Amino acid sequence: MRGLLISFASILSLVCVSACEQVEPRQGALHLPEGDAIEGARHFVSLGCVGCHKVVGAELPDPVEEGPVRVLLGSKTGRTMSYNQLVTSIVNPSHRLSTRYRKDKVSLEGQSLMTSYNDVLTVTQLTDLVAFLQAHYVKAERPGYKYPVYEYKSDSESETDDS
Ligand code: HEC
Repeated sequence: MRGLLISFASILSLVCVSACEQVEPRQGALHLPEGDAIEGARHFVSLGCVGCHKVVGAELPDPVEEGPVRVLLGSKTGRTMSYNQLVTSIVNPSHRLSTRYRKDKVSLEGQSLMTSYNDVLTVTQLTDLVAFLQAHYVKAERPGYKYPVYEYKSDSESETDDS
């Protein structure tokens, strides 16, 4: 009986070896070196990303060449983007299209309208770009909201608030 069980298990594993080959490779987390956000902003301009993108909260020069679409990056609402999401969006833009726009505005037959940079971008440029963009996916402060400042006021100081 035991022998039967063992041979059954080995048959099963054989079946799995052939069937499981089609299964997608494990993806797991990506661990790239830390990027430089200031360099990232420079690449964003020199690589022409500005042709199609504006970034919330970033002062970037106008593009030398206007791209065919305008897609906003960065967050106004506090929605963040993980490192993995940003890397995926850059190296495989059609994998998950931006959720900000109607699909037919940013893609054609399921393919993102974004330029492919995979044959020109260095890994350093990629990590720099991600560092630059990630800093702009942060919770935006409510306009007009002033953070209260708690500081010790001596009696001699005037209490007038001229704001
Ligand atoms: C020709 C226009 C074009 C250029 C140039 C371009 N993109 Fe895009 N990009 C798009 C479009 C269209 C989308 C929306 C569809 C999608 O998600 O792929 C997009 C989406 C993205 C997203 C995901 C946004 C989201 O909300 O999910 C990121 C990040 C991004 N681009 C980064 C870059 C970077 C970095 C560069 C330069 C290296 C660049 N793009 C250059 C057109 C462009």
